[in-house]
Amino acid sequence: MKAVVFERFGNPDEVLQVRDAPEPTPGKNQVRVRMRASPVNPSDLLVVRGQYGRLPSLPATPGFEGVGVIDALGGGLLKYLRGLRPGRRVAVLNGPGGNWQEKVVVSARHVVQLPDDVADEQGASFFVNPATALVMTRRVLAVPKGGWLLQTAAASALGRMIIRLGKFDGFRTINLVRRREQADELRALGADEVLSTQADDVVSKVKAFTGGEGVRYAVDAVGADTGLTAVRCMGSGGRLLVYGTLAGQPIPLDPRLLIAGQKRIEGFWLSDWVRQQGALTMLRLFRQIISLMRSGVLTTVVQAAFPLDQIREAVRLAEQPGRTGKVLLRC
Ligand SMILES: NC(=O)c1ccc[n+]([C@@H]2O[C@H](COP(=O)([O-])OP(=O)(O)OC[C@H]3O[C@@H](n4cnc5c(N)ncnc54)[C@H](OP(=O)(O)O)[C@@H]3O)[C@@H](O)[C@H]2O)c1
Repeated sequence: MKAVVFERFGNPDEVLQVRDAPEPTPGKNQVRVRMRASPVNPSDLLVVRGQYGRLPSLPATPGFEGVGVIDALGGGLLKYLRGLRPGRRVAVLNGPGGNWQEKVVVSARHVVQLPDDVADEQGASFFVNPATALVMTRRVLAVPKGGWLLQTAAASALGRMIIRLGKFDGFRTINLVRRREQADELRALGADEVLSTQADDVVSKVKAFTGGEGVRYAVDAVGADTGLTAVRCMGSGGRLLVYGTLAGQPIPLDPRLLIAGQKRIEGFWLSDWVRQQGALTMLRLFRQIISLMRSGVLTTVVQAAFPLDQIREAVRLAEQPGRTGKVLLRC
């Protein structure tokens, strides 16, 4: 079977290659999935570059999530408890990575059965962005109805989910983008305000939107000066979750910005959050994601799909600015 493999950390379009690999056999409480599709997410590419929070031993295969069909079951009772059978279509949440190959073996705990009306394109991006959007806004920040949430990288797949969640849950969003031409599209999704970090005086406009107060809730995936702008937009008691490093540079922070008004900056990593949850919380979260996918809230736009053989073209497109949607690998 074919697998995307890297033997050293580096630029994805230089180090990733497609190889023949032996078909894996499922062990106790494991299932084997014939993969159909897996997205190229920023976190996958950070792993390949050797810049992610947790790194695999090499050689390794990237791919934290994806969709496929169960084709073999290992021993143990877990598969019965979870109703898993060959032929069932599942989302595959692969904590260590490894979904960019034709067949993958994972714990029966790490697959979620998908209803027929959730298309492969959506099932492929079932967990990483939907769960992060939901957990950050509903559980960690608990943004109240009518409250203002400011976000950076607002046109990302995850940012668009937060905009739609704002409409669904009743909180208001101020959305920062680096390209002004995305504003109309984000407003059509339900964004209350859209500002360009290149062209607008963001801090004074945010103060005006919020009656001079600044925002209580913010999430930043960019860092650098954009992250600093998010800090400057916070009002008294404000909380900023930092959850991405798209600019690849630190936030140049003057601590006095936090002291006045006792503002907080906290890190959020889905993988750490998941490790702290019990099985029931996770099952409830999976159900919520399925329901919000069906209602069009936690959906992902796909720009292009590539076969595994074209992995280098796929990662090059995934890193281009100004994409209109996710890049998918067809496995
Ligand atoms: N902490 C966690 O647990 C967690 C979980 C999920 C996702 N994330 C993070 O969430 C972020 C978004 O993920 P995604 O899959 O939604 O991304 P995506 O769909 O690939 O979109 C990336 C977006 O980032 C923007 N961008 C890239 N570099 C930028 C820069 N230097 N300054 C400003 N904007 C920039 C792009 O803007 P253009 O449209 O202008 O090109 C694009 O809209 C990533 O950082 C990812 O690592 C974190």
